[in-house]
Amino acid sequence: MDCRGVFLYNRPMLKIGSLKLESNVLLAPLAGISDSSFRLICREFGVGFTFVEMINARALSYKGKKTKKMLRIDPHDKPIGIQLLGAELPYLIQALEVIESFYDFDLLDFNVACPVRKVCRRGEGAALMKEPEKLEKILKGLIQRWHKPVTVKIRSGWDQDSKNAVQIGKVAEQSGVHAIFIHGRDKNQLYAGSVDYKIIADVKKNVRVPIIASGDIFCAQSAQKMFDETGCDGILVARGALGNPWIFREIDEFLKHKRTLPAPPVSEVIKTLLKHLELSVAEHGEKNGVALMRKFVGWYFKGRPYVRPLRQKVNTVKTKKEFVALIETIPALANQREMC
Ligand SMILES: Cc1cc2nc3c(=O)[nH]c(=O)nc-3n(C[C@H](O)[C@H](O)[C@H](O)COP(=O)(O)O)c2cc1C
Repeated sequence: MDCRGVFLYNRPMLKIGSLKLESNVLLAPLAGISDSSFRLICREFGVGFTFVEMINARALSYKGKKTKKMLRIDPHDKPIGIQLLGAELPYLIQALEVIESFYDFDLLDFNVACPVRKVCRRGEGAALMKEPEKLEKILKGLIQRWHKPVTVKIRSGWDQDSKNAVQIGKVAEQSGVHAIFIHGRDKNQLYAGSVDYKIIADVKKNVRVPIIASGDIFCAQSAQKMFDETGCDGILVARGALGNPWIFREIDEFLKHKRTLPAPPVSEVIKTLLKHLELSVAEHGEKNGVALMRKFVGWYFKGRPYVRPLRQKVNTVKTKKEFVALIETIPALANQREMC
């Protein structure tokens, strides 16, 4: 991706209903990734709003233990949103009852973006892009029941022949949502192919609620490009934050002062990864916490010459002690220039 360009930054504070956010750069919902430890690491580098991992309303309405564990929030991890997936209002309402009685979320988002086949086959996620009337009923039901801001996350459309984000955006606004998140790819594109900036700009022009855009935010310049090309009010960082929580500091610095921060030295990457590991083990216990951290090693050291053997070795690591010992070999692997 081309991350060059010079742009201007002059954005008002992001307000979603009654919720005022300090920053208009948010951490995207990331199923399987954005547990409490990942969110806390991103907070360290300045992200102002996070989401817990997407929750299936039906699973939560059955009061599943694992699902409820996903909803634990650290006091430092605020403000924070919850995203629900589902297509049947009764289950969604039951899920809201569980959420309200146990947790203090600042925002409820409804997922109309998930492209996973088995999800869409159930008529959930991106499949609702094809059912505006049903979507309207669900959104109205949620808004009536939930007393804090409600948003919706949509895609540009179902496929390239049905790019109806503008229509769905209008339906969402008429239903009463307080903001719209939009991933500028259609359902068939999944996470590849080019982001459609124009359709995001069209949605922005056609509704009055804030538009928070998503797609290929991998550096400060791509963040600026999203603001400039779409006129959006905020952005979501998704894959760009994997192994790179520094991206939030970089974007902030660039948008405010036009300064490009240098990449963190290997010593800081190691320190951050080890802190992430500590948090993960505290959250999930040693066995699961270590297992969940394996994939992050490849992301934290992406592009470095020793990343491949490191990834292979980390897959055999089982305890925190072994994990730390492996990571402590990195300074010897890295060259002197990288270390300073
Ligand atoms: C591993 C992974 C998990 C995701 N989980 C969710 C999710 O639970 N809910 C959602 O609305 N979007 C989810 N997304 C989509 C992202 O929030 C984002 O919209 C998308 O990745 C585009 O942004 P990017 O190109 O900057 O990664 C996920 C994406 C990835 C890569």
